[in-house]
Amino acid sequence: MFNMGTQAFPVVVLISGNGSNLQAIIDYIKDKQLNINICAVISNKDTAYGLERAKQAHIPTQVIRHTDYCDRDHFDAALQASIEQYQPKLVVLAGFMRILTDKFVRHFQSRLINIHPSLLPKYRGLDTHQRVLDAKETEHGVSIHLVTLELDSGPIIAQKKIAVTSRDTAKTLEQRIHIEEYQLYPAVIEQIAKGAIDLTKL
Ligand code: GRF
Repeated sequence: MFNMGTQAFPVVVLISGNGSNLQAIIDYIKDKQLNINICAVISNKDTAYGLERAKQAHIPTQVIRHTDYCDRDHFDAALQASIEQYQPKLVVLAGFMRILTDKFVRHFQSRLINIHPSLLPKYRGLDTHQRVLDAKETEHGVSIHLVTLELDSGPIIAQKKIAVTSRDTAKTLEQRIHIEEYQLYPAVIEQIAKGAIDLTKL
């Protein structure tokens, strides 16, 4: 178990875009004065607004552009090296929109988590809100899972359900799912940092 009383629990967050989940994590750590240190926020896109959010919170940022590399292996090797500078105990994917190589996933085994906007194992992949509406589902939700070799398929760490109403659109579902994400992801990270969730036992 990590001792929350001494050195801060080191976390690296990977993003590709808006970073509203990153913001929720930053705010939660600050509000609860948790002994968790977001050592760096790394993006594969230099236009990601989440980089601004990190800078405003005085968190170091790095951009590793996937377009600068000839293939996934080289990109992931650069990303891995960048992350490992910070020796994180947890790597948090927060809207990071790249498929990771097996080598990368194996390297970060049991310390790599993702948030996905569906009740996994249903609706892996993209466009989950529209697909849920098209299938006339009555329930939707968000999942936090350990990242394993198969996309959106690792052991579930936490889920939150919402009811789909007749008034919902893909936009309203996205907004309603976001509200759940902003509560669930920071709380799960807190539990992992405190040792209440042991990712090696999932
Ligand atoms: C979230 O809905 C998350 O579930 C998915 O990507 C979105 C990221 O949004 N993986 P943001 O960049 O945190 O605003």
